[in-house]
Amino acid sequence: MDDDAARAWAAVEALAARPRASAIRPLFAADPKRFERFAHRAGDLLVDLSKTSVSDEALAALLGLARACGVEARRDAMARGEPINATERRAVLHIALRAPRSAGFRVGEEDASATVHDTLGLMRAFTEAVHAGEIRGATGERFTDVLNIGIGGSDLGPAMVARALWREGVSPMRAHYLANVDAHAWEALRPRLDPARTLVLVASKTFTTQETMLNARLVRAWLAEALGEAQVGRHLAAMSTNLEATRAFGIDPTRVFGFRDWVGGRFSLWSAVGLSLALALGWGEFARLLAGAWTMDEHFLSAPLERNLPVLMALVEAWHVNALGYPARAVLPYDERLARLPAHLQQLEMESLGKRVTLAGTLVTHATGPVVFGEPGTNAQHSFMQLVHQGTTPVPVDFVLVARPDHTHVENHRALLANGLAQAEALLRGKSAEEARAEMAASGMPEAEIARLLPHRVFPGDRPSTTILLPRLDAATLGQLVALYEHKVFVLGALWGVNAFDQWGVELGKQLAGPIGKELAEGKVRAGAHDGSTAGLLEAIRQAQEPPPAA
Ligand code: F6P
Repeated sequence: MDDDAARAWAAVEALAARPRASAIRPLFAADPKRFERFAHRAGDLLVDLSKTSVSDEALAALLGLARACGVEARRDAMARGEPINATERRAVLHIALRAPRSAGFRVGEEDASATVHDTLGLMRAFTEAVHAGEIRGATGERFTDVLNIGIGGSDLGPAMVARALWREGVSPMRAHYLANVDAHAWEALRPRLDPARTLVLVASKTFTTQETMLNARLVRAWLAEALGEAQVGRHLAAMSTNLEATRAFGIDPTRVFGFRDWVGGRFSLWSAVGLSLALALGWGEFARLLAGAWTMDEHFLSAPLERNLPVLMALVEAWHVNALGYPARAVLPYDERLARLPAHLQQLEMESLGKRVTLAGTLVTHATGPVVFGEPGTNAQHSFMQLVHQGTTPVPVDFVLVARPDHTHVENHRALLANGLAQAEALLRGKSAEEARAEMAASGMPEAEIARLLPHRVFPGDRPSTTILLPRLDAATLGQLVALYEHKVFVLGALWGVNAFDQWGVELGKQLAGPIGKELAEGKVRAGAHDGSTAGLLEAIRQAQEPPPAA
């Protein structure tokens, strides 16, 4: 970390060390216009950062931190296609995936925008031919279902979007996602699919991921059994950067949709990996999703730091994680259609920012990515929100609210919104001992009972939250929302000095799973190969599998 950055961190930390630095209520009391000044709009989204303890002074210090950490220069280097993913020597250009061709993004000699739009053209032609019945299954039937086989970024993003935007009676095809190597997932899915009407997409950037390849072989065998080996190719397509491996798997090169290594897995839903979305939702919806993301990209690329939403969200997160020491964040979408958003953000944020070494290879000096978890509201209120209201460690919350529903059940929607707003208000306001006492007394409770219950019924308040308001949930607003979080991750990577675009932490487990799988197959535990716990568990599994499971 250079001197400027060290000074900027020190300035932020000095503010956080002041008494009541985590208090929020006094900030509202002192400034009736706090909402107007801390709620910002970009595209169709409104993001309210006022229910945090970031004061004007803290914000100024945090903006100083963003400048000292070179956020703008790093952002511009990304847009120029420089290899900012230094550990993998790759550019990071998912913004090119949703930009118009005229944006002219380049990676070295390559016209990245042209490459992207050529692939989009192929994807569109394929999608429209499937919808028009020009591409059909082996028996001549139209495809009604698309099955995406992939894991991590080759599953979570598309599955989240499909869940959010798919509409019965409107969307052209049903979408299914198979990720887990646990074949119970496939067994649960299989009865719902007719092989004659199912188009199977194998989505894998590397085309070597064990889970995806095992599942692809299972599903391929299912197709072959139902339709005959010679017909399988008519039901298969792939999305990958590894064209050799897709050929070796027997997928016709005209059915392989490529993307470049400058698209990271968790940023790939906008690439060919999004083909299941184009098929399931229609090309127009997919195009609107991309355009929505580009709206947020343009904002991120051009807005000054003090009005730049991803930057401001990242600074608030740094305040929470680093200045105040909050180790987790919850995401509560108050929209059932966004049920998979927390899962997508878990990968996006924790795979990107769960790093303990800086880009320079030294140990970080500040805490990095918080634990991210979540569930849709109101369900979450009846599970982990107890801890958020009254637990020992504050957990900042992102509330995602959608103003207009796509149904006519007005009362339900009003209850949904009221609950979302009430949670955020309750976290801020809390309930003092006097208020709790008065409430119990008014209900006629005896004094002894009031005294016994009082400590349990106090809420500390001053617990932070951010509210993101979408006017409605559609392809455009969802594209904006996901891109907002992507750029927030980018900014945090710059503040913490880590590479947000590699994921070496997933490798060790993959390496060890190989030999362990062999031991499970042979029913033998290699002496001295494992720690005592792993050896003991392997032996217990071996015994529990007597006789061994039939192949
Ligand atoms: O979990 C590691 C990871 O490489 C993710 O980054 C990626 O999204 C996922 O595996 C799937 O990889 P692939 O698309 O290459 O199968």
